[in-house]
Amino acid sequence: MKGTALVTGASSGIGRELAREFARHGHDLVLVARSKQRLEALAGEIRDAHGVQVHVIVLDLGKVGAAKTLHGRVRQKRLTVDILVNNAGFGLNGAFVENTFKDEAGLLQLNINALVELCHFFGREMVERRNGYIMNVASSAGFQPGPLMSSYYASKAFVLHFSEGIAEELRSAGVFVSALCPGATHSDFFERAGMQDVPLASGGLIPVMEARDVARIAYRGLERRRVIVIPGFMNKLLAFSNRLGPRALTRKIAMRINRKPN
Ligand SMILES: NC(=O)c1ccc[n+]([C@@H]2O[C@H](COP(=O)([O-])OP(=O)(O)OC[C@H]3O[C@@H](n4cnc5c(N)ncnc54)[C@H](OP(=O)(O)O)[C@@H]3O)[C@@H](O)[C@H]2O)c1
Repeated sequence: MKGTALVTGASSGIGRELAREFARHGHDLVLVARSKQRLEALAGEIRDAHGVQVHVIVLDLGKVGAAKTLHGRVRQKRLTVDILVNNAGFGLNGAFVENTFKDEAGLLQLNINALVELCHFFGREMVERRNGYIMNVASSAGFQPGPLMSSYYASKAFVLHFSEGIAEELRSAGVFVSALCPGATHSDFFERAGMQDVPLASGGLIPVMEARDVARIAYRGLERRRVIVIPGFMNKLLAFSNRLGPRALTRKIAMRINRKPN
């Protein structure tokens, strides 16, 4: 694997560690997120540590049309994206009808629409070059329904199934697609979703992984052309047991681990 990697959501958590991991393997980078200062600090750190080229694009990918804007900015800079890492995403906790529809729609816009559009824009160019890699960050949540985070779990099921679908379509064109399915991971995710105190985030049931370890496993998975990458033994076991267990039970357990204490 070689060339430039574009990482969305590179300003914190898993995306920041993915950027560091790609740089460690000698890839030039395009870092995308909304937080300019965080991106520039990371870009400086990576340039100093690895001597690779790092471009920063500050953009809100949650806005309709943002994927097209990003594609345009990459072209303006005359860059070729060899590896697209669709990592930007967020979760929303609470009963669906009690959340505002604006928030629910915003989640679907970022977690699904922006990701799909970026796969289309950059995927087409990869097919023309008959070379490229796409890593879409799904979640262990993609293997099951998730009451109290219903849209989030469903968005990740979409990412997982969509990625598997295009992986088969693009294989013969020399473009390889991987769906990364992390379980609970230390990052800003739970705080942003307002759910630091739910059982899922505490690690009481399933150990919470370090973002650095998730990124290492993700990179290795992409390099080895694994279509589905699930970091951590417990997360693999859970994904497998979801296939065997009754769905009614899975729904009830998910509701319990996503519920805030009273
Ligand atoms: N942490 C977990 O337990 C876990 C488990 C499974 C899957 N995941 C998935 O992993 C991915 C990364 O999450 P994380 O855990 O690393 O959380 P995080 O620390 O909150 O990072 C989220 C990243 O997405 C960016 N982002 C959010 N909204 C954006 C927008 N509108 N436009 C552009 N960038 C935006 C954020 O940057 P700015 O705020 O600077 O824009 C940040 O860089 C997500 O897709 C998440 O669903 C996380």
